[in-house]
Amino acid sequence: MISVRCVVAFAIALSVVSFAVSASAQKTAQESAAAAKKPFDPVPGMPGKDSVWVPTPFVTLEKMYDLAKLTPKDFVMDLGSGDGRAIIVAAKRGTPGLGIEWNQDLINLSNKFAAEAGVSHLAKFERGDMFSADISKATVLGLFMLPDQLAKLTPKFLTMRPGSRITVNGFGIPGWTTDVTEKATGDCGTWCTAHLYIVPAPVAGTWRLGEADLALAQSFQMLTGTLTVSGKSTPVANGRLNGNKITFTVGDTQYSGRVNGTSMSGQVNGMPWSATKK
Ligand SMILES: C[S@@+](CC[C@H](N)C(=O)[O-])C[C@H]1O[C@@H](n2cnc3c(N)ncnc32)[C@H](O)[C@@H]1O
Repeated sequence: MISVRCVVAFAIALSVVSFAVSASAQKTAQESAAAAKKPFDPVPGMPGKDSVWVPTPFVTLEKMYDLAKLTPKDFVMDLGSGDGRAIIVAAKRGTPGLGIEWNQDLINLSNKFAAEAGVSHLAKFERGDMFSADISKATVLGLFMLPDQLAKLTPKFLTMRPGSRITVNGFGIPGWTTDVTEKATGDCGTWCTAHLYIVPAPVAGTWRLGEADLALAQSFQMLTGTLTVSGKSTPVANGRLNGNKITFTVGDTQYSGRVNGTSMSGQVNGMPWSATKK
């Protein structure tokens, strides 16, 4: 037989447990209400769609834009724009821009920071995927992403107008020699290296240059090839592009000029030269 004392003890224990459960449920509800009210505060290393969020130090962004010689006539984009700082720093220099970010909380925070900095009219943010973003309006990209992401986007980078600048924090673009690399100074613990890449004009192929054939092979801004006259070929040396500007040497002769689609022209030994794509 269960004693009366036993039943009372069980009832008391049950009421203590149910009080504890209801108090803890109340506490959890209060905590979630507080969490709901708490402003979004991202932590470096926070997971993202294809990579974590790690912010670029402000001094590195300034160095990146110094290397890119950013002006208010540019249009800057960041793919995976995090808390919006790359676009906001550019906007503070008077340059309009657009950040593409997958995480809506980071976009909301970017808009808040842009408003606080008084640059909402220049700094815009959209939710999207970095790999399908339309970058055709951009003259400058300010990026911080993983090497395999940079590699995946490289064919798209090369469709940008020749002379467009891609400036990158930390990781370089695989296979593409930087035009300039410099370290940020000042308040910078990690991620202080800025790289600059200038999008080269596409020139690979054969060009008719006077009576000669100029055959060019291109690896980003680096050129090799031959100049063939009357069946005699001479190697092209020191071939290089800086956007639309081309320079190369054949023997002792230095050529410099500008590429304009399927034609190029310039100066050689103080005389004009021109070539047309075959
Ligand atoms: C290393 S952080 C760089 C943040 C910012 N660009 C900066 O320099 O401070 C990478 C950012 O890319 C975002 N991200 C990851 N995968 C993405 C994707 N597929 N499309 C758009 N954003 C993405 C992450 O949410 C994160 O904010």
